[in-house]
Amino acid sequence: MIRHTMNGELVVEPAAFAHAACYRDYINACSADPAIDHYDEALEDSDEYLLSVVNAAQGIGLPAGYLPQATFFAIRGGQIQGAIRLRLGSNAFVDNIIGHIGYEVRPDARNQGVARTMLHWVVNQTAARPVVITCGVDNMASRRVIESVGAEFTGTRHDEAFGEVLRFIVR
Ligand SMILES: CC(C)(COP(=O)(O)OP(=O)(O)OC[C@H]1O[C@@H](n2cnc3c(N)ncnc32)[C@H](O)[C@@H]1OP(=O)(O)O)[C@@H](O)C(=O)NCCC(=O)NCCS
Repeated sequence: MIRHTMNGELVVEPAAFAHAACYRDYINACSADPAIDHYDEALEDSDEYLLSVVNAAQGIGLPAGYLPQATFFAIRGGQIQGAIRLRLGSNAFVDNIIGHIGYEVRPDARNQGVARTMLHWVVNQTAARPVVITCGVDNMASRRVIESVGAEFTGTRHDEAFGEVLRFIVR
Protein backbone atom coordinates (compact mmCIF):
# COMPACT_ATOMS: atom_id res chain seq x y z
CA MET A 1 0.00 0.00 0.00
CA ILE A 2 1.15 3.55 -0.67
CA ARG A 3 1.25 5.73 2.42
CA HIS A 4 -1.34 8.51 2.30
CA THR A 5 0.18 11.66 3.69
CA MET A 6 -1.63 14.32 5.66
CA ASN A 7 -1.23 18.08 5.30
CA GLY A 8 0.98 17.88 2.22
CA GLU A 9 3.69 16.00 4.11
CA LEU A 10 6.49 14.62 1.93
CA VAL A 11 7.52 11.06 2.77
CA VAL A 12 10.41 9.04 1.37
CA GLU A 13 9.90 5.30 1.00
CA PRO A 14 11.43 2.37 -0.91
CA ALA A 15 10.18 1.82 -4.47
CA ALA A 16 7.61 -1.00 -4.57
CA PHE A 17 5.26 -2.48 -7.12
CA ALA A 18 2.36 -0.82 -5.26
CA HIS A 19 3.62 2.44 -6.80
CA ALA A 20 2.87 1.24 -10.36
CA ALA A 21 0.03 3.66 -11.16
CA CYS A 22 1.71 6.78 -9.81
CA TYR A 23 5.05 5.67 -11.31
CA ARG A 24 3.50 5.75 -14.79
CA ASP A 25 2.41 9.35 -14.20
CA TYR A 26 5.87 10.20 -12.78
CA ILE A 27 7.69 8.72 -15.80
CA ASN A 28 5.52 10.73 -18.17
CA ALA A 29 6.08 13.96 -16.22
CA CYS A 30 9.86 13.50 -16.02
CA SER A 31 10.23 12.52 -19.66
CA ALA A 32 8.91 15.94 -20.67
CA ASP A 33 12.25 17.34 -19.42
CA PRO A 34 14.91 16.91 -22.15
CA ALA A 35 17.56 16.81 -19.37
CA ILE A 36 16.11 13.48 -18.21
CA ASP A 37 16.66 10.69 -20.74
CA HIS A 38 17.04 7.67 -18.47
CA TYR A 39 13.29 6.95 -18.52
CA ASP A 40 13.04 6.65 -22.31
CA GLU A 41 12.79 2.86 -22.17
CA ALA A 42 10.33 3.07 -19.25
CA LEU A 43 7.80 4.93 -21.41
CA GLU A 44 7.05 1.73 -23.33
CA ASP A 45 6.15 -0.39 -20.29
CA SER A 46 6.44 1.45 -16.99
CA ASP A 47 5.21 -1.58 -14.97
CA GLU A 48 8.00 -3.79 -16.28
CA TYR A 49 10.50 -1.00 -15.76
CA LEU A 50 9.33 -0.56 -12.14
CA LEU A 51 9.78 -4.29 -11.60
CA SER A 52 13.40 -3.96 -12.81
CA VAL A 53 13.88 -0.99 -10.47
CA VAL A 54 12.58 -3.01 -7.50
CA ASN A 55 14.71 -6.03 -8.46
CA ALA A 56 17.85 -3.90 -8.88
CA ALA A 57 17.87 -3.29 -5.12
CA GLN A 58 18.62 -7.01 -4.71
CA GLY A 59 21.12 -6.99 -7.60
CA ILE A 60 18.68 -9.01 -9.75
CA GLY A 61 18.65 -8.59 -13.54
CA LEU A 62 21.52 -6.10 -13.75
CA PRO A 63 24.12 -6.02 -16.53
CA ALA A 64 27.51 -7.51 -15.60
CA GLY A 65 29.55 -5.19 -13.40
CA TYR A 66 26.58 -3.10 -12.21
CA LEU A 67 26.19 -2.63 -8.47
CA PRO A 68 22.85 -3.30 -6.78
CA GLN A 69 20.86 -0.06 -6.66
CA ALA A 70 18.07 0.79 -4.23
CA THR A 71 15.45 3.33 -5.34
CA PHE A 72 13.32 5.49 -3.05
CA PHE A 73 10.40 7.72 -3.94
CA ALA A 74 9.43 11.05 -2.39
CA ILE A 75 5.63 11.02 -2.24
CA ARG A 76 3.16 13.75 -1.48
CA GLY A 77 -0.60 13.52 -1.83
CA GLY A 78 -0.39 10.16 -3.61
CA GLN A 79 1.97 11.56 -6.26
CA ILE A 80 5.62 10.65 -6.75
CA GLN A 81 7.46 13.98 -6.71
CA GLY A 82 11.01 12.67 -6.94
CA ALA A 83 13.13 9.53 -7.13
CA ILE A 84 16.54 8.88 -5.65
CA ARG A 85 18.84 5.93 -6.34
CA LEU A 86 21.51 4.61 -4.01
CA ARG A 87 24.22 2.37 -5.44
CA LEU A 88 25.21 -0.26 -2.92
CA GLY A 89 28.97 -0.79 -2.82
CA SER A 90 31.74 0.91 -4.75
CA ASN A 91 33.93 0.64 -7.81
CA ALA A 92 36.20 3.11 -9.61
CA PHE A 93 33.43 4.39 -11.93
CA VAL A 94 31.00 4.95 -9.06
CA ASP A 95 33.65 6.42 -6.80
CA ASN A 96 34.89 8.91 -9.41
CA ILE A 97 32.22 9.64 -12.00
CA ILE A 98 28.61 8.78 -11.19
CA GLY A 99 28.76 8.69 -7.39
CA HIS A 100 26.67 6.54 -5.09
CA ILE A 101 23.52 8.61 -5.50
CA GLY A 102 21.41 9.78 -8.43
CA TYR A 103 18.11 11.67 -8.30
CA GLU A 104 15.61 13.76 -10.14
CA VAL A 105 12.42 15.67 -9.33
CA ARG A 106 9.38 15.98 -11.58
CA PRO A 107 9.50 19.37 -13.33
CA ASP A 108 6.33 20.75 -11.72
CA ALA A 109 7.57 19.96 -8.18
CA ARG A 110 10.99 21.64 -8.38
CA ASN A 111 12.35 24.36 -6.10
CA GLN A 112 10.20 23.17 -3.20
CA GLY A 113 12.92 21.26 -1.36
CA VAL A 114 12.04 17.77 -2.68
CA ALA A 115 15.59 16.87 -3.77
CA ARG A 116 17.03 18.29 -0.56
CA THR A 117 14.60 16.19 1.53
CA MET A 118 15.37 13.00 -0.44
CA LEU A 119 19.13 13.46 -0.24
CA HIS A 120 19.09 14.20 3.49
CA TRP A 121 16.91 11.13 4.06
CA VAL A 122 19.13 8.77 2.07
CA VAL A 123 22.41 10.12 3.44
CA ASN A 124 21.21 10.05 7.04
CA GLN A 125 18.92 7.01 7.09
CA THR A 126 20.37 4.42 4.78
CA ALA A 127 23.65 5.17 2.97
CA ALA A 128 26.95 3.66 4.10
CA ARG A 129 29.73 6.24 4.57
CA PRO A 130 31.63 7.62 2.83
CA VAL A 131 29.03 8.68 0.26
CA VAL A 132 30.27 10.09 -3.05
CA ILE A 133 27.87 12.41 -4.91
CA THR A 134 28.63 14.03 -8.25
CA CYS A 135 26.90 16.48 -10.59
CA GLY A 136 27.60 18.13 -13.91
CA VAL A 137 29.69 21.29 -13.70
CA ASP A 138 26.77 23.42 -14.89
CA ASN A 139 24.11 21.84 -12.67
CA MET A 140 23.85 24.60 -10.08
CA ALA A 141 20.55 23.36 -8.59
CA SER A 142 22.02 19.91 -7.93
CA ARG A 143 25.18 21.46 -6.53
CA ARG A 144 23.07 23.45 -4.01
CA VAL A 145 21.27 20.25 -3.02
CA ILE A 146 24.55 18.34 -2.54
CA GLU A 147 26.06 21.17 -0.50
CA SER A 148 22.96 21.20 1.73
CA VAL A 149 23.97 17.83 3.23
CA GLY A 150 27.38 19.21 4.20
CA ALA A 151 29.22 17.32 1.44
CA GLU A 152 32.85 18.27 0.94
CA PHE A 153 33.96 19.26 -2.59
CA THR A 154 36.92 17.11 -3.65
CA GLY A 155 37.54 18.43 -7.16
CA THR A 156 36.47 17.76 -10.74
CA ARG A 157 36.63 14.50 -12.64
CA HIS A 158 36.36 13.84 -16.38
CA ASP A 159 34.66 11.04 -18.26
CA GLU A 160 34.17 10.61 -22.02
CA ALA A 161 30.42 10.05 -21.70
CA PHE A 162 29.63 12.22 -18.67
CA GLY A 163 32.02 15.09 -19.37
CA GLU A 164 33.28 17.20 -16.48
CA VAL A 165 31.72 16.41 -13.10
CA LEU A 166 32.03 17.97 -9.67
CA ARG A 167 32.81 15.35 -7.01
CA PHE A 168 31.66 15.65 -3.38
CA ILE A 169 31.99 13.33 -0.41
CA VAL A 170 30.06 12.91 2.83
CA ARG A 171 32.39 11.26 5.34
C1 LIG B 1 18.53 19.07 -9.62
C2 LIG B 1 17.11 18.77 -9.14
C3 LIG B 1 17.05 17.32 -8.70
C4 LIG B 1 16.77 19.70 -7.96
O1 LIG B 1 15.51 19.30 -7.44
P1 LIG B 1 14.63 20.30 -6.53
O2 LIG B 1 13.62 19.50 -5.80
O3 LIG B 1 14.17 21.42 -7.36
O4 LIG B 1 15.74 20.81 -5.49
P2 LIG B 1 15.49 21.63 -4.15
O5 LIG B 1 14.21 22.40 -4.27
O6 LIG B 1 15.65 20.71 -3.00
O7 LIG B 1 16.76 22.60 -4.12
C5 LIG B 1 17.13 23.31 -5.29
C6 LIG B 1 18.19 24.33 -4.92
O8 LIG B 1 18.80 24.81 -6.12
C7 LIG B 1 18.58 26.20 -6.23
N1 LIG B 1 18.43 26.45 -7.65
C8 LIG B 1 17.43 26.08 -8.47
N2 LIG B 1 17.69 26.45 -9.74
C9 LIG B 1 18.90 27.05 -9.70
C10 LIG B 1 19.73 27.64 -10.69
N3 LIG B 1 19.36 27.69 -11.97
N4 LIG B 1 20.93 28.15 -10.29
C11 LIG B 1 21.32 28.10 -9.00
N5 LIG B 1 20.58 27.54 -8.01
C12 LIG B 1 19.38 27.03 -8.38
C13 LIG B 1 17.35 26.48 -5.39
O9 LIG B 1 17.31 27.82 -4.98
C14 LIG B 1 17.60 25.53 -4.23
O10 LIG B 1 18.63 26.02 -3.40
P3 LIG B 1 18.28 26.60 -1.92
O11 LIG B 1 17.49 25.51 -1.23
O12 LIG B 1 19.61 26.82 -1.32
O13 LIG B 1 17.48 27.82 -2.18
C15 LIG B 1 16.06 19.04 -10.28
O14 LIG B 1 16.29 20.30 -10.82
C16 LIG B 1 16.11 18.00 -11.39
O15 LIG B 1 15.43 16.95 -11.33
N6 LIG B 1 16.92 18.25 -12.46
C17 LIG B 1 17.05 17.30 -13.56
C18 LIG B 1 17.78 16.03 -13.15
C19 LIG B 1 19.09 16.33 -12.45
O16 LIG B 1 19.81 17.27 -12.78
N7 LIG B 1 19.42 15.48 -11.45
C20 LIG B 1 20.63 15.60 -10.66
C21 LIG B 1 21.75 14.93 -11.37
S1 LIG B 1 23.27 15.18 -10.46
